[in-house]
Amino acid sequence: MRVLVLGSGAREHALAARLSDKRGADEVMCAPGNPGTAALCRTLDADLSDPASLLELAARERVDLTVVGPEVPLSLGVADRFAAAGRLLFGPTQAAARLESSKAFAKAFMARHGVPTARFRTCESVGEGLGAVRSGEFGFPVVLKADGLAAGKGVIIADDRAAAEAAVVAAMRERRFGAAGDRLVVEECLSGPEVSFFVFSDGVRVLPFASAQDHKRALDDDRGPNTGGMGAFAPSVLLDAALDARVMREIVEPVISGMAAEGHPFRGFLYVGLMLTAEGPKVIEFNVRLGDPEAQVILPLIDEPLLPVLVAAAEGRLVQPSCRLGRDKLVGVVIASRGYPESSESGRPIHGIEDAERTSQVFHAGTARRGGDLVTAGGRVLTVVGRGVNFEDAIARAYEGVSKIHFDGMQYRRDIGRKALAREA
Ligand code: AMP
Ligand code: GLY
Repeated sequence: MRVLVLGSGAREHALAARLSDKRGADEVMCAPGNPGTAALCRTLDADLSDPASLLELAARERVDLTVVGPEVPLSLGVADRFAAAGRLLFGPTQAAARLESSKAFAKAFMARHGVPTARFRTCESVGEGLGAVRSGEFGFPVVLKADGLAAGKGVIIADDRAAAEAAVVAAMRERRFGAAGDRLVVEECLSGPEVSFFVFSDGVRVLPFASAQDHKRALDDDRGPNTGGMGAFAPSVLLDAALDARVMREIVEPVISGMAAEGHPFRGFLYVGLMLTAEGPKVIEFNVRLGDPEAQVILPLIDEPLLPVLVAAAEGRLVQPSCRLGRDKLVGVVIASRGYPESSESGRPIHGIEDAERTSQVFHAGTARRGGDLVTAGGRVLTVVGRGVNFEDAIARAYEGVSKIHFDGMQYRRDIGRKALAREA
């Protein structure tokens, strides 16, 4: 079987690695990929914002299954194009991808189906936005979310009324998030620890897969600005069998059956961002893809071949009741460039990856080849993953790998996985 992975980050490197292991595909390709995937499989040029060209690529390369990493091609309808041409792809249609691409859709959908989430109001104009924050109905702090895709930057937590009003004006009048902010969701601020919960769905059936905890802030102890994710560990230490079952019953199953009932079944990876509040688990957000860096720590947890699961899900016959998971713990540390997340440097030579690979798995994101050298090419550069029989062991291996890698201006958090350790002790 010939498999194409779409994307260019560490998540796609991890997917390609997993699909090309000894029980995997005959040939794996990655487009556009990165120097890490290029060392593993054939890497092809692609424009992820052009679904028609992606379909042409898959046809030209006689691809049997396409797996989509990031949300943008899904929100542009790549799954619809492939379906219309009778080509197998694992990922939701444009209509189903609205669970991520429109927060207003996701919130209204949850309200229709009784899925627990923060109380909210969707605002279509500056006047409505100001009205919602002035009414004080959600208290303070209050959360404001740009409706559309905003590369992880569209959420503002405003501490008081003045900050909330300023945020409404910035999003809706000054269009700080571009068109993504033309509609705004105003919602109550929840509190509690956050967990990422992942399932596969074929549109009707659901296979629970794994949980993880992300580290979104740039600095140790969850300080500094929000980022795409500076590290993750899996499985989560906050869920147990009872809570897993509750999340499935109260959240995942109503979402999958609700999407099907509304005529746009959800087929793909569903990533449920949860907050474990005093009243129980509530949805913070949906993503219609795997997380990054979560994918780098959950994919190695699956103790059975991944390819047959993805094919079955893509073909709408995901009948297996569960997914076999190993008992190991995984910790992934992201190494970023100086300036990330506000800006990022590029072109710095990277050393030591081979050395790091003796103890850890290293996945590439913002890297490039310049002549024979590997150099930095973006904010998040690498994810270094350690595996162990417990979190202490996994953390030690991840950081041993990190200690071997050098480039000018590299930054990373020193505390990835520490939260798990506190629970394990
Ligand atoms: P998102 O971009 O949707 O992932 O949101 C970014 C972060 O904002 C989340 O990881 C949460 O930490 C926080 N957040 C989003 N919605 C809420 C909420 N209703 N209450 C508290 N925190 C929130
Ligand atoms: N790590 C968060 C995300 O992938 O959206």
